[in-house]
Amino acid sequence: MWGGRFADGPSSIMREINASIPFDKKLWRQDIRASLAHVAMLAEQQIIDRDDATQIINGLNQIAQEFEAGGVTEDLDLEDIHMHVEARLTEIVGPVAGKLHTARSRNDQVATDFKLWVRDAVDVVSDGLAALQQALLGRAEAHADTIMPGFTHLQSAQPVTLGHHLMAYFEMFDRDRSRFADARVRMNYSPLGAAALAGTGFAIDRVQTSQMLDFEAPTANSLDSVSDRDFALDYLMAATQCSLHLSRLAEEFIIWASQPFGFIDLPDRFSTGSSIMPQKRNPDAAELVRGHSGRIAGCLNALIITMKGLPLAYSKDMQDDKPPVFDAHDLLGLSLAAMTGMIEDVKFNPDRMRTLAESGFSTATDFADWLVREAKLPFREAHHITGAVVQLAEKQGCTLSELTLEQYQSIDSRITKGVFDVLSVDASVASRSSYGGTAPEQVRAQIAKARNSLED
Ligand code: ARG
Repeated sequence: MWGGRFADGPSSIMREINASIPFDKKLWRQDIRASLAHVAMLAEQQIIDRDDATQIINGLNQIAQEFEAGGVTEDLDLEDIHMHVEARLTEIVGPVAGKLHTARSRNDQVATDFKLWVRDAVDVVSDGLAALQQALLGRAEAHADTIMPGFTHLQSAQPVTLGHHLMAYFEMFDRDRSRFADARVRMNYSPLGAAALAGTGFAIDRVQTSQMLDFEAPTANSLDSVSDRDFALDYLMAATQCSLHLSRLAEEFIIWASQPFGFIDLPDRFSTGSSIMPQKRNPDAAELVRGHSGRIAGCLNALIITMKGLPLAYSKDMQDDKPPVFDAHDLLGLSLAAMTGMIEDVKFNPDRMRTLAESGFSTATDFADWLVREAKLPFREAHHITGAVVQLAEKQGCTLSELTLEQYQSIDSRITKGVFDVLSVDASVASRSSYGGTAPEQVRAQIAKARNSLED
């Protein structure tokens, strides 16, 4: 391909370090699609003959069928997917194949192919996220009234509803979907026609190729076009953020599935046993979702560090942009699928959740609020009195609703029997009806709104 200038062929080590075909063969569909657009434009602009273009188009379509049926046969001497397609095209149509590369370079070609691939990847992830959100909505709706302990510092804090807890994740995944959608809008400009770096003297029509490839418009600057990998970084940043959310949910499932919690039973199809301890049911899928998030963040890190020192325009370092994106995409796809399956099939144990919600003095804040509302105390003083009540209950080994009125009044004579209305977990949860709060009516409103926005 570039042998004209060289007396010796590459050493076998050079061949190996130079070749990207083992991984970039994933781009064959995008490569052929972009070439079809390019050659149609060349003919339209009368840069090459119609007949030549027709031969090239037929040849490219034949290669697509061959790759579809038998995959891409790797040849390290042919370096990358672009050369594999061109070499096969030459076998099929002869020297006329050489006209395909008029007015383009592998630099704009690889930028275009990779961008097309990442854009498809964004669509795949967005669909996966929507499916996960649907699963969350279904379970949240069924558990809008189910009471569980809410935690801060992983210490029992205030009772919440399970539906509310699940809808918190819905919100996170909604932001993820919007991050991917943003990235898609930003990346949707065609680098094809930027050529090696400076544009071309041929009278190409970049708007036409851009439209044929469903881009918004051609990119504005040829140097930027071949140097830019922001689209890959945007994908990885969104993927990292999303995997971080998946990891937090996975972590909660792991804790909830442990015997001291017992909030959930993970489905058989997402658990494994132990070879030595027959009683074990391990949350491996959740643990691997948590683990994969580390690898996905590593992929982002790899590409950031690859790109950060590169001058304009193309440098070969940029060939290393693909493996981290491909890896992250595979890991994220699996994580999303596993988490969706777990959400759909997990068995929640509402009785156990309620028992724990009722322990740990989780309605202490409700008591303090009652003192503020009914006895008109400043919150700080109410907080202090509540501390004394909790200490007493702890000493008696009972819950706040099990203390007697006399016991309450021994701490503060302004406490009346009305206090017992706010001490149950049900009353606590129902009272938190501020916008976005945990009250079942609020959770149902959140779910209805979420369902509408997901269907848009
Ligand atoms: N295989 C290369 C890559 O993936 C294609 C671009 C090569 N361009 C060049 N001037 N060597 O980045």
